[in-house]
Amino acid sequence: MKKHVVLYKKLSPPLMARLQQQAEVTLIESLDAAGLAQLHDALPRAHGLLGASLKLDAALLDLAPHLQAIASVSVGVDNYDIDYLTERRILLSNTPDVLTETTADTGFALILTTARRVVELANIVRAGEWTRNVGPAHFGTDVHGKTLGIIGMGRIGEALAQRGHFGFGMPIIYHSHSPKPAVEQRFDAQYRSLAALLQEADFVCLTLPLTAETERLIGAEQFAQMRPETIFINISRGKVVDEAAMVDALRAGQIRAAGLDVFEREPLGSDSPLLQTHNVVATPHIGSATHETREAMAACAVDNLLAALAGERPQNLVNTDAWQG
Ligand code: DGY
Repeated sequence: MKKHVVLYKKLSPPLMARLQQQAEVTLIESLDAAGLAQLHDALPRAHGLLGASLKLDAALLDLAPHLQAIASVSVGVDNYDIDYLTERRILLSNTPDVLTETTADTGFALILTTARRVVELANIVRAGEWTRNVGPAHFGTDVHGKTLGIIGMGRIGEALAQRGHFGFGMPIIYHSHSPKPAVEQRFDAQYRSLAALLQEADFVCLTLPLTAETERLIGAEQFAQMRPETIFINISRGKVVDEAAMVDALRAGQIRAAGLDVFEREPLGSDSPLLQTHNVVATPHIGSATHETREAMAACAVDNLLAALAGERPQNLVNTDAWQG
């Protein structure tokens, strides 16, 4: 008998066909109230779940006694209680690698956009207010040759370092759990303590996962260590930053600007104080949001789920302790 998969993210027709060949599929089209009610109804029969952007807590998963595997269409796994999943031997997989370059592109887009004030100045043109050549009041700051500080030197951090070092001649400094000699050699990068990086970097970029250890890693004390020229970029998770402290730092001119793709609460409300500051570029969590990469992520998640449901170890198993193979 086919296993039952609950899908809470729409797949392209070829991927849907692939999944339906192997499994009976219930598609939850949207995660609104009606969709959540549909999810509640479907969970008791589910062997597998596939989707993203939904906090799957124990209360929800307790509705799914037959659940064997969850394939998250994301690299971040902060929406899951990993200890609980492991205890229940539910295999959690994610989609690393396929989104690395695209997410680093997003980070670099924010670096360039904030430094050169692209959104603010493009809006002047659009509003018909470009009446003479721009002067110093509208000048930006250079990116090439400036010091790029990367906090969290994982795959995405490395891809950002590659762009900065080879593309823009930027000295690279980084902070992570421990020094990474291979990265240092490849990008001529130097390890720094967190405080030293915050003081020295022209661009402070967060690329680390949200964990109990990294939650609110950057708060008032850390913004105070940055310089008025610092541009702060976050493409990791909003909760790594104390958002109220960031607003204070922007308002007080403690930092020059912020380029943010992630927020404490998403979607970001239009009343967010962040949007009342002129020096913030906010994007709607688009790190991996290109046609090609989202399709690759979905394909990766389908592979992971089908492997798990067939009793094989998924390639991107997150909670390895749950594997009994
Ligand atoms: C990821 O893959 O974790 C992206 O941030 C989307 O959630």
